[in-house]
Amino acid sequence: MSRNSVVRKVLDISQVPDFSRYSATRSINELAPYISSTLSAYPTESKYINQYHYYHNDNVLVKKYLQKKPHPMSLKQLAQYYDDSSKLTKMKIISSGKFVKEELCVRIAHKLDLLQNLPFDVVNNFHFNQVYESYYNIFERFRKFPEIKDEKDNLKFCQFLHAILSDFNSLNLPHLIMGALECRILDLYPQDKMDALISDLLRARISRRLIVEEHLSITSNYLSGKKENTLVLGDIFQKCNAKEYLNGAREVCEAYINNMYFAGIKMPELIINGDTELEFYFLPSHLKFLLGEILRNSYEVTVKETIRLGLEKAPPVTVTIISNDQSYLFRISDRGGGVPHSDKQIWSFGKSKELAKQSLDNFHHLPGLQTLSLYDSSNGAHLKSDRYRQTSLDRMSENNLTKGKFKVGQPLMELLKRSPRYKLGIGLALCKVYAEYWNGDLTVHSIQGYGTDTVLKLGNLMRHTDKLQLDRV
Ligand SMILES: Nc1ncnc2c1ncn2[C@@H]1O[C@H](COP(=O)(O)OP(=O)(O)OP(=O)(O)O)[C@@H](O)[C@H]1O
Ligand SMILES: [Mg+2]
Repeated sequence: MSRNSVVRKVLDISQVPDFSRYSATRSINELAPYISSTLSAYPTESKYINQYHYYHNDNVLVKKYLQKKPHPMSLKQLAQYYDDSSKLTKMKIISSGKFVKEELCVRIAHKLDLLQNLPFDVVNNFHFNQVYESYYNIFERFRKFPEIKDEKDNLKFCQFLHAILSDFNSLNLPHLIMGALECRILDLYPQDKMDALISDLLRARISRRLIVEEHLSITSNYLSGKKENTLVLGDIFQKCNAKEYLNGAREVCEAYINNMYFAGIKMPELIINGDTELEFYFLPSHLKFLLGEILRNSYEVTVKETIRLGLEKAPPVTVTIISNDQSYLFRISDRGGGVPHSDKQIWSFGKSKELAKQSLDNFHHLPGLQTLSLYDSSNGAHLKSDRYRQTSLDRMSENNLTKGKFKVGQPLMELLKRSPRYKLGIGLALCKVYAEYWNGDLTVHSIQGYGTDTVLKLGNLMRHTDKLQLDRV
């Protein structure tokens, strides 16, 4: 970068725009509450990004944690923690706790490094900044958590994990996507690189959550007296009945369509054929999300096409289930007219600039999201507040753990439940990340003027469980 352009950059960021041009009557703090913090050298409320950040980061993150590499893991290791037996012993629970603490630190450190290497305009974006701070907060909390030496320490660690899963970190998913949309609109980063970045961060996020959830699951099994992990994998993977999940997704779609139009609108019939009795091990929340999003696209276009053509009856949506011992395939066929020719970017998080603007606008209207920020004290997510730390740690009592139950915040499910008013344009892009994570893929085959086949393939998780991979099974 030439000296001139450096000077220009500095001038750009230090120049305060004339906000009265946008609204003469309402103050800027009312219209955009965080604008003042994005204009100063450091966000005013930030606990991490301040004049000490560079030195702290260099001494701790760069010199200690970036020197270590994350461990690629197999599904079997995830479930059984480095030994062959499925017996749950005290030692195993404790060493799993130790592993999770260290591994999460290292993994999040590398993602912080990735964010730090983005162009300044990108990482300085309000939403990416929220993600950055949240990651730094996770990094510091894991790093400082006392060593786990016995069962009691582990119990405390589990309460801590549960708090981390359910507090403001659950906002990272929407913030990541909103950040990507803003960068798209402002042309801050090439779209293909942005899509790769978001996919990478999302895959890493899935892995971290799995590692944490699995530890919570085996601890809770152990404490409730179940001394054996009877399944090949831990309890977070469950036997899923394909037909049941499809019918569940159908109900969600019908409710969505009724909400979009009116109760009693002509609804397509859902026909399920092929291997209709299929049952397989999978992560229930991910399966619900995948089938829900895909089926919803088909329902939406079918109903629209039915109205457009003035048909008496909506054509059906047909799901064909195919399975072999390698993978499971769901082919969702609709007669909704096919993917519009103009839509070349269905796999991108940013889509076109125009669509990105619409999606971003809808994100801002999602109930509960528009007011939430790491810096808010009103939502209990203030980093500086001890009260916050106390309450989130308390949320999961010892009682809950010993009952063999744990429930964590599920941002994915919240997204799935969004109303038709809030089109985010991210269904397919997100589904692809999840399908690929589970050793599968997602493709769309469209016949213009007729309909679309969306094909979801998921790997059989009982195969290749010894394969070592990072952020993929
Ligand atoms: N079955 C389908 N038939 C026709 N077009 C489809 C189908 N599925 C997806 N598309 C096209 O792909 C685009 C992207 O789909 P995606 O699910 O990612 O976002 P969306 O449906 O527009 O928004 P959201 O999922 O947030 O409601 C859709 O806008 C639509 O144009
Ligand atoms: Mg969709």
